[in-house]
Amino acid sequence: MIEKNIDITHLTTFGIPVKASAYAEYKSVDELIRICRMPEYLDQRVLHIGGGSNLLFVSDFKGLVLHSGIKGLKEYCKDDETVYLIAGAGERWDDVVNYCIDHDLEGLENLAGIPGEAGASAVQNVGAYGVEAGDLIWNVECLDRTTLQVVTLKGSECGFGYRQSKFKGEWKDRYFILRVSYRLRRSTHAHHLEYAALREYAARLGHQPTLREVSEEIRRLRASKLPDPAVVGSAGSFFKNPVIRKAYYEWEVLNFDPSVPSIPRRVAEEPKRADFDSEEAFTAEMRAYEAYRDATHVKVPAGWLVEHAGLKGASVAGAYVYPQNCLVIANRGDATGEEVEALAHMIQERVLQCFHIPLEPEVNFIDSRIRITVLGSGTSKGVPELRCNCSTCTSADPHDKRLRASVLVETMGVKILIDPSPDFRQQALRARIFDIDAVLITHEHYDHVGGIDDLRPYCFAGPLDMYCRQDVNDHLHTRLDYCFKSQLYPGVPSFRMHVIDNQPFFIKGVRIEPIEVYHGKLPIYGYRIGDFAYVTDAKRIDESEREKLLNLDVLIVNALRHRQHFAHFTIEEALQLIEEVKPRRAFLTHLCHEVGYHELFATTLPEGVAPAYDGLEITVE
Ligand code: EPU
Repeated sequence: MIEKNIDITHLTTFGIPVKASAYAEYKSVDELIRICRMPEYLDQRVLHIGGGSNLLFVSDFKGLVLHSGIKGLKEYCKDDETVYLIAGAGERWDDVVNYCIDHDLEGLENLAGIPGEAGASAVQNVGAYGVEAGDLIWNVECLDRTTLQVVTLKGSECGFGYRQSKFKGEWKDRYFILRVSYRLRRSTHAHHLEYAALREYAARLGHQPTLREVSEEIRRLRASKLPDPAVVGSAGSFFKNPVIRKAYYEWEVLNFDPSVPSIPRRVAEEPKRADFDSEEAFTAEMRAYEAYRDATHVKVPAGWLVEHAGLKGASVAGAYVYPQNCLVIANRGDATGEEVEALAHMIQERVLQCFHIPLEPEVNFIDSRIRITVLGSGTSKGVPELRCNCSTCTSADPHDKRLRASVLVETMGVKILIDPSPDFRQQALRARIFDIDAVLITHEHYDHVGGIDDLRPYCFAGPLDMYCRQDVNDHLHTRLDYCFKSQLYPGVPSFRMHVIDNQPFFIKGVRIEPIEVYHGKLPIYGYRIGDFAYVTDAKRIDESEREKLLNLDVLIVNALRHRQHFAHFTIEEALQLIEEVKPRRAFLTHLCHEVGYHELFATTLPEGVAPAYDGLEITVE
């Protein structure tokens, strides 16, 4: 049932060679439940894939890849007009659409030609040409991964939005989708003709187009803009069309470059009937005017941004920007996941520089490695200390310049900042941090949160997710009250606060385990992410919490100096902890100038232990 070390390249549309250490395709819910009880499932990372049309494997996948082989299409008629179509999650999406067209079921015809499978339609909320699957999804039958019970979720509770659903957010890794049902209308003709090219097509035809006509026109449109996955590897749109605050768009983006378009189009002045040749043209302009006037956010076409940043055809080795549609990154045939990733970063940087708009990938980066960047390795005063002339503080070695303690952790395409230090601005410039998915706070001391105001640029699209204990949350609300008001002063940072306790939780599918440690008398959190843990400002760790630090590949832990301190581990205390929990590699952080020169200090540490330094990059394979 579970196969080992399997090539799964054919299960993705990028065509980049990739292997999974384990793979299983199940044909029924009973078979899936049997897999869920197997050690191969319980003991390792699990990734469920659909048609692989939105995935970029940056490295081979260490873990179990699951794929649904649940098929079947079944109609239930409610009345003469409404039909519910239930599709097995493993049905090819285009087969679902073709079935509808063959059986005069209206609703999904605008979604013709999209690669992928029915299950993914609910996860991605696939959308094209004015229609989103979420508008039609009636309910979703799932297997709850914790209880192994089958549950039926209503479409209305799935949180569908532009390229968004709860399956990608708060429900990530909670359910396996078994079947999806769509509420359709019995009709031979198509009615969703809002997309400009379809309106023009209908006008050319001179009659209301049939479902088949619309689906064929859409296939033609797609073929002119998108590579055929059978010929050129890609994942369709690589980035989402950014949705940004309207105020930001008007004040920042347009001030910088007035030509940047928006969807709905920017129609600042109310259209006048007399200025239009036909009623239809006037109504369309009026609709755009109203949509723009009412919206608090605007969507900007990412393909336009990439093209106008001068990146049409740009490449990194085998990965290139598809010239017919700059929103697509394509594989010349020999591209690696890392080359696609490098090109994506180059595009993000250039678009940000040109238009002040960050692009968010639509594609899921599957990189089970954990990459850690030490942004700061110094104690609360930093090194050099102000007004100090000691040899360390006057050293010319860049390793002896320690900003306040902070790390950036990247895994599975998710970037997590631990502690926005007062030096965050400099750290972000140095590490070229263009986006952040979430912020974890260890405790409320100023040297760990003093950079919160500098997170402003990362809140351009809306509040940034921040995770902390209740006491930290209370402190931040008092100290940074201006970030938490119901009416925010324009441009201030805003946060979606998640109060956590000492229980594991998920950020976009990444499991975070808090570790309670004592900073003097203050209970604070360290965090474990996979085989990596970050513990700062600890003086004591109780036995039960120490267990969470067993079997680590990398531990970063605070060690202030040799002299005792009431609230921080000394170097000897940190080494004692390392000796006890035995990580494969350990790095000391939150160091003060008393440790002396980095280079000399390093020679005094046991094998497998090193001082951290600012800019240090560590990879957990
Ligand atoms: N544009 C450019 N240059 C380009 C590409 C696009 O200037 O290189 C401009 C177009 O001229 C147009 C605007 O950008 O004015 C929007 O382009 P388009 O209508 O082609 O749609 P899109 O926003 O680029 C979205 C979906 C597609 C879907 C189309 C059609 C996203 C991320 N992508 O693309 O979905 O097919 O609309 O509705 O929302 C996919 O998800 O893989 C996908 C292909």
